[in-house]
Amino acid sequence: MAKKKKKKKVSPVKNQVAEHVEQVPLEHEPSVADDAISEQEKIAEEEAEDLLATNIVRAKDVHKIFKMGDEEVHALKGVDFKVNRGEYVALMGPSGSGKSTLFNMIGGLDKPNAGRVFIDEVDIAALSTFELAWLRCHKIGYIFQTFNLIPVATALDNVMLPMLFADVQQSEAQDKAVELLRKVGLGERVFHKPVQMSGGQQQRVAVARALANDPAIVLADEPTGNLDSVTGRQIIELLREINKTEGVTVISATHDYKMLTVCDRIAWLTDGAIERYASRDELEIKEGSTDGE
Ligand SMILES: Nc1ncnc2c1ncn2[C@@H]1O[C@H](COP(=O)(O)OP(=O)(O)O)[C@@H](O)[C@H]1O
Ligand SMILES: [Mg+2]
Repeated sequence: MAKKKKKKKVSPVKNQVAEHVEQVPLEHEPSVADDAISEQEKIAEEEAEDLLATNIVRAKDVHKIFKMGDEEVHALKGVDFKVNRGEYVALMGPSGSGKSTLFNMIGGLDKPNAGRVFIDEVDIAALSTFELAWLRCHKIGYIFQTFNLIPVATALDNVMLPMLFADVQQSEAQDKAVELLRKVGLGERVFHKPVQMSGGQQQRVAVARALANDPAIVLADEPTGNLDSVTGRQIIELLREINKTEGVTVISATHDYKMLTVCDRIAWLTDGAIERYASRDELEIKEGSTDGE
């Protein structure tokens, strides 16, 4: 299937590439020094553009501490994490390593205690409540281990919901939901409720729902955790297909080595920090070992 060119969204989120572009007020006559400054500015702007062209997600020295009574849990201990536009990255880590906590930071659902998270090189800490809500609704699609569908709603209604939140017309939302459900292989199940579907089918509905507002990024948090291995494999293959055909960046958290077969790159999160990265090809060289490392 030919790769669809993604529509560029008109975002209320201004492009705040401030970290890389210094503002220099020109209150005096230009001089040789000014030329040097403008040259520096140009370089900084070019660097910022390069970053924007490559990085869709960038976490920088992110810390998260949960307080539980007198106890503190240091869930993220200075995470540096980068994802390129259009990549499929598997975030590997054992239970408790901080995968969901990192996803919550990237998805703007929670705030770090220290460090910064950039989406499209915009520091999300600098966004207003409205801008952050827009980002969560339009830029990011979420998939969870437990599907998180509304139990009393049909597959169609579940997929329509994020579009209705985004003020899409009812009839347009319905047509698109049907199209998305067809895309995930559930064209015959649009009026089924979650309880009338298998786990794999429910997760397909969740995939369709995640795509409802044409997100740039899909965050899938252990999407296969509640599925048998064959069904789980079908879900990650579906995510890979969407990644390839729609150009959507996919970040999938897992602790299951079998799920690494379709990604471009693997990031290992150990005890709240990214320990290392590997490309899929590097992993293949080492195939045959018991745990895929
Ligand atoms: N809301 C919370 N309150 C207290 N501790 C938390 C909370 N969320 C996560 N943690 C702790 O942070 C650490 C990382 O958790 P989590 O991000 O859920 O890991 P993973 O998704 O890799 O299993 C764990 O020690 C967990 O107990
Ligand atoms: Mg988790």
